Amino acid sequence: MRRATLRCARETLERVTMNEPKKVFVKTWGCQMNVYDSDRMTDTLAPGGWEETSTVEDADLVILNTCHIREKAAEKVFSELGRIRRVKEARALRGETMVVGVAGCVAQAEGVEIARRAPVVDMVFGPQSYHRLPDLIDRVAAGARVVETEFPVEDKFDHLAPASRERTVARGLTAFLTVQEGCDKFCTFCVVPYTRGSETSRPVDRIVAEAERLADAGVREVTLLGQNVNAYHGPGPDGAAWSLARLLRRLAEIPVLARLRYTTSHPRDMGDDLIEAHRDLPALMPYLHLPVQSGSDRILAAMNRRHRRDDYLRLVERIRAARPDIALSGDFIVGFPGETEADFAATLELIEAVGYGSAFSFKYSPRPGTPAAAEADQIAESVKVERLARLQALIDRQTRDFNLSRLGMTMDVLLEKPGRRPGQLAGRSPWLQAVHLDAPVDLLGTIVPVRIDAVMTYSLSAVRLDAPAPSSRPVAALGGVR
Ligand code: 5AD
Ligand code: SF4
Repeated sequence: MRRATLRCARETLERVTMNEPKKVFVKTWGCQMNVYDSDRMTDTLAPGGWEETSTVEDADLVILNTCHIREKAAEKVFSELGRIRRVKEARALRGETMVVGVAGCVAQAEGVEIARRAPVVDMVFGPQSYHRLPDLIDRVAAGARVVETEFPVEDKFDHLAPASRERTVARGLTAFLTVQEGCDKFCTFCVVPYTRGSETSRPVDRIVAEAERLADAGVREVTLLGQNVNAYHGPGPDGAAWSLARLLRRLAEIPVLARLRYTTSHPRDMGDDLIEAHRDLPALMPYLHLPVQSGSDRILAAMNRRHRRDDYLRLVERIRAARPDIALSGDFIVGFPGETEADFAATLELIEAVGYGSAFSFKYSPRPGTPAAAEADQIAESVKVERLARLQALIDRQTRDFNLSRLGMTMDVLLEKPGRRPGQLAGRSPWLQAVHLDAPVDLLGTIVPVRIDAVMTYSLSAVRLDAPAPSSRPVAALGGVR
């Protein structure tokens, strides 16, 4: 069986070398950084003749890009691998090959265990090794079974292939751009500092070049990504370390990039210059994801968040003073070890005090190797379930109120894709809300003024304010606008 796998892998490589198109299937779990990483992996493979497929049965190469942030992530990967093993065996019976790789944070955290438990896996590699993917495939083809979970000294971003223009166009009018990776904060519940390593920031000129390439391909909105993105401190062209605010000011000079966003931020790194950037830069959208996790000082201390509830509330006030229309979003964890009903009530109070546009909330999930997982006073599942439901009811109410507050409002919408009904386009408000309106396809990629005329549960409906008289505008073919 083992020998068959190796022979198959060698045949796969040979067909690729002969420039026969080969198919790669990537399944992505987790955050936007994993989405970005999956795209960079397929971009890195594309020059070698690899095309993407959305069906695992067709795939010569399968990559599972995994997330370890919550729950039984590793178990999900193993059950997916069970399914893939059956597909691989069925393909082998037809004389077809399949190379299987596990990437991402589960790979980083449990690499050896995955290799031990799942013989179907040919290669396991962590987020710092993606630029080596073609080489890893070569090593598998040469008979090796690869486990690569080191933090190499070279910067993977120096080697990861940029997307071609065609691939960027196909991905649409909004794009992610990773500017920072890793985290030095060590919140006691979080695996990120272990799976993604310590904080690193990409150089300004590389980021600007990538943003310009995206703009050249028609991208109108870029979201800068980092586990702790507002801790960004990459080397600038002048040799100084640039802050995120300075980077945003530079990117705002690229005219096509009408909209800039960034995620996700830590309250401790929300510097004055970043708050001023929200005041000064029209391209910086008035929506900020600023997780606080808990409203209880006792729990914030136990989480090692390094700030108190009042620090957060004061910060929110300062941000709102600089940009009054800003909407806040956040992350909350319920049922952290030792969380009492009073601690939880303090979180609900904080949510009431801030008033969020949207928020994400999670039951605390013990992560192997993190300090909080070793605490004795773990909270019962039933309590977590009950608290999560209460917290989510509050957030849902706030989101509904926030959406309703847009009714009758005029705003700009970036038209991103065809809508559900013929003659409709769908886009986003400055606050990331989905908006539908009647508009011709030649307006895709443009930003149009609209008035909100109805509020649904998950989207807003709008009418154009700049609509020409009926039938005066020809309808171009989709894609002609890029
Ligand atoms: N349990 C539950 N939620 C977690 N998060 C991170 N680690 C855990 C954990 N162990 C949440 C935090 C973070 C978001 C990305 O995931 O709220 O901000
Ligand atoms: Fe995890 Fe964010 Fe805390 Fe870093 S700041 S340890 S990524 S929760």
